[in-house]
Amino acid sequence: MTIKIIMDTDPGIDDAAAITMAINDDNIDLKLITTVAGNVTVDKTTKNALKLVRFFNSDIPVAAGAKQPLIKPFEDAARIHGESGMPGYDFPEDLPKPMNKSAVEALRDAIMASDEKITLVPTGSYTNIALLFSEYPEVKDNIERIVAMGGSLGMGNMTSAAEFNVFTDPHAARIVYNSGVPIVMVGLDITMKALLTHESIEKLPTLNETGKMLHDIIIHDGDNSDSGIAMHDVNTIFYLLHPEAITTKEMWVDVQTEGPAMGETVGDIRGAYHDGKTNASVCVDIDAAAFNKWFIEEVTNMSK
Ligand code: RIB
Ligand code: CA
Repeated sequence: MTIKIIMDTDPGIDDAAAITMAINDDNIDLKLITTVAGNVTVDKTTKNALKLVRFFNSDIPVAAGAKQPLIKPFEDAARIHGESGMPGYDFPEDLPKPMNKSAVEALRDAIMASDEKITLVPTGSYTNIALLFSEYPEVKDNIERIVAMGGSLGMGNMTSAAEFNVFTDPHAARIVYNSGVPIVMVGLDITMKALLTHESIEKLPTLNETGKMLHDIIIHDGDNSDSGIAMHDVNTIFYLLHPEAITTKEMWVDVQTEGPAMGETVGDIRGAYHDGKTNASVCVDIDAAAFNKWFIEEVTNMSK
């Protein structure tokens, strides 16, 4: 039984690794890739998604989405992902064309046409998803759940309170968290634990061409330390395939949309303030060794 997913992405180095896993794992049926402004402009994130589809000779469609957040001015993360968003590897130049429809239209059409419920996997800001729910609320009935990279319980990487994907468009994040669609919050609480170790990274180019490509882009990721490099977005795919390696806690999550804590995801950790209601399964712990072992095994088994 494959998991039918759509990824809404801002490649971005860790998005590229997540897309690589989703395209190549037989247990996942990646129906569509949509792009959004985030790590870099949407023109660049779209080009990067097309580079990956071409690298794998895949026919997965790519549709370009929002150029900017709903209300906030756009602020990229090129300081982390480089000016191109995916530096370090010479991808083929003959790229396929993006779909001649917007991400929102492509999302609506793909979700409504699916004979099985779709899992939405946003790994950038949630602008496209918020627009989709606002314009076509009927899609919610054919969405299994949202497995979203973003947020955290009490830490940030843009401010001390806010994580980049939610900080980039907090108004969109609030719409998504209040949508009624079940959410798995894959936040910094686990993505900063399950770092890809330097030992794992150095193994990659010895495995195959995909390993070399991932190595060559990952070593440019600015989100690195002596302990390893954060592969934030890849944790969404790891969760889908190995939920047993991740601990979750049900709670209500609110999103701050103004003030110095703008973009903070606030968890009702004691269940004290929302009459027992919850809207999210928040990932609170992860087996980091299992993540590294899985990452290497996945790439080892890839055909390119
Ligand atoms: O905070 C990490 C998130 O911001 C990841 O999705 C990364 O790609 C950047 O978009
Ligand atoms: Ca991302």
